[in-house]
Amino acid sequence: MFLSAIRAMLDFRRQMYATVLQLPIVWFSRNLSDTVSRFVQDSQEVFRGYVILLAKIAREPLKAVAIFALALWLDYRLTLAVAVAAPIAAFILRRLGKHVRKANQRLLVGYGRMIGGLTATLSGMRVVRAYTREGYERKRIWRVEREMLKQSLKMGRIEAMTSPLIEVIGVALAMLGIVWLAQRTLVGESSPAVFLQMVVLLVAMFDPIRKVATVYNRIQRADAAAQRIFAVLDMPVERVSSLGQRELPPPQRRIEFVNVSYTYPEANEPAVAEVSLVVPVGSQVAVVGPNGSGKTTLISLLLRFFDSQEGRILIDGTDIREVSLKSLRRHFSLITQDPVVFAMSIADNIGYGREGATREEIVEAAERAYADEFIRRLPEGYDTVVGEFGVTLSGGQRQRLALARAFLRDAPVFIFDEATSQIDVDSEQKIREAMSEFLIGRTSFLIAHRIATVRAADQIVVMNQGRIEDAGSHADLVSRCDLYRSLYTTHLAGRTVERPMPLRP
Ligand SMILES: Nc1ncnc2c1ncn2[C@@H]1O[C@H](COP(=O)(O)OP(=O)(O)OP(=O)(O)O)[C@@H](O)[C@H]1O
Ligand SMILES: [Mg+2]
Repeated sequence: MFLSAIRAMLDFRRQMYATVLQLPIVWFSRNLSDTVSRFVQDSQEVFRGYVILLAKIAREPLKAVAIFALALWLDYRLTLAVAVAAPIAAFILRRLGKHVRKANQRLLVGYGRMIGGLTATLSGMRVVRAYTREGYERKRIWRVEREMLKQSLKMGRIEAMTSPLIEVIGVALAMLGIVWLAQRTLVGESSPAVFLQMVVLLVAMFDPIRKVATVYNRIQRADAAAQRIFAVLDMPVERVSSLGQRELPPPQRRIEFVNVSYTYPEANEPAVAEVSLVVPVGSQVAVVGPNGSGKTTLISLLLRFFDSQEGRILIDGTDIREVSLKSLRRHFSLITQDPVVFAMSIADNIGYGREGATREEIVEAAERAYADEFIRRLPEGYDTVVGEFGVTLSGGQRQRLALARAFLRDAPVFIFDEATSQIDVDSEQKIREAMSEFLIGRTSFLIAHRIATVRAADQIVVMNQGRIEDAGSHADLVSRCDLYRSLYTTHLAGRTVERPMPLRP
């Protein structure tokens, strides 16, 4: 029985994970910690409810029914009179149960908040310490904790109250019944033997009812958790929301944005507005623009992390919404702005790029990304575990790892969302060399923060507040685009040209 409960819980988690892996990307920017909490806390709660349900509920009602039948047989009039109490008890139980469920729902949301608060603080520990905000952080988590405590106490109060309440009603009714029966016995309508038997049965009947009452609250708690889990399971997944199932062949001619606009949920301004752009296969396009101008959003649309509300994106004339997500994404190697390193070995991290890659291929990709040199210096080379459970990598090393992963994937279209953070000049030079070899003859989208990347591109697109302000070659843009000129002098070129600090007189 315990086993079946555990199996049910594992099953819940497995299904939930399978769903979460397919939820639309936008969902994660707001519900990350809450999802974690649903995995850990909610499924536990359902598990406990399930155990109690199986252990108690199945047995107790049976007991109650047996006793009830016996009592009916002995004295049906009295038994039916007492049975009137059942709907009253049920009504009270339902009312209380509703409160329990609500309180638990709040409590579970609280767990999500706490996980969110903790992960943010723990991963930002350097900032917390450097700004000496330990006290503030302590209070912040304590506030969440206090709110959760409130809900816990409320639930405890109701649970503590339920059983006595039911008992009081029960005892009162039983008393009435006993007095009535005693009177009838005295008058001679009933025998003393039946009287005694009925007294015992009446008392015995309340035991299972009291137990069911306690269990009922636990079931309500489990139900609150189960609802939250089902809410996830019922979310529309990416696969369902996408219409197309056709296979998309590798791009042959061009990738085209036609009047594309996208507004994030609950945002007022579009992040990408009326963008039209043609990228011939084999060419390099550099996208530049101030922070928040929509560069990352634009390429997210190309990979269909979310779909544009207006306009279309075409690959060789086929709307990307008409093809399956898998066949679309197969053609891209993506390096995200903030290189992701999973908590596994270096080899597995690079191998993530292509399923079934051999060790030789992984090493070769690492060599091409100039990552091999630092990997070999790690304590266990390619088998060193990195991430949360292992060695920490520097920003530049993470980026080279991400590059090796993308190289290994070897997809026809390469997307590089360049990190804004400074990488040492040496690493930057190496990444640049590695890329320029790799990019020959390949279609690439380079979100650029460095002038060298921009210079090499066939086409430079300047974005501003979601719109394409101008596009062309470096020379064109310098001569006619004010924004590009200012980006060029303050931002793009600022990385390679050392400017002396202004001296005060
Ligand atoms: N998940 C999100 N939910 C809501 N709004 C978002 C989300 N991601 C980005 N935005 C908003 O969309 C706009 C464009 O963001 P985007 O990340 O595309 O900019 P960017 O050009 O890549 O900037 P950066 O140079 O800093 O990387 C910004 O105003 C940003 O606040
Ligand atoms: Mg960005």
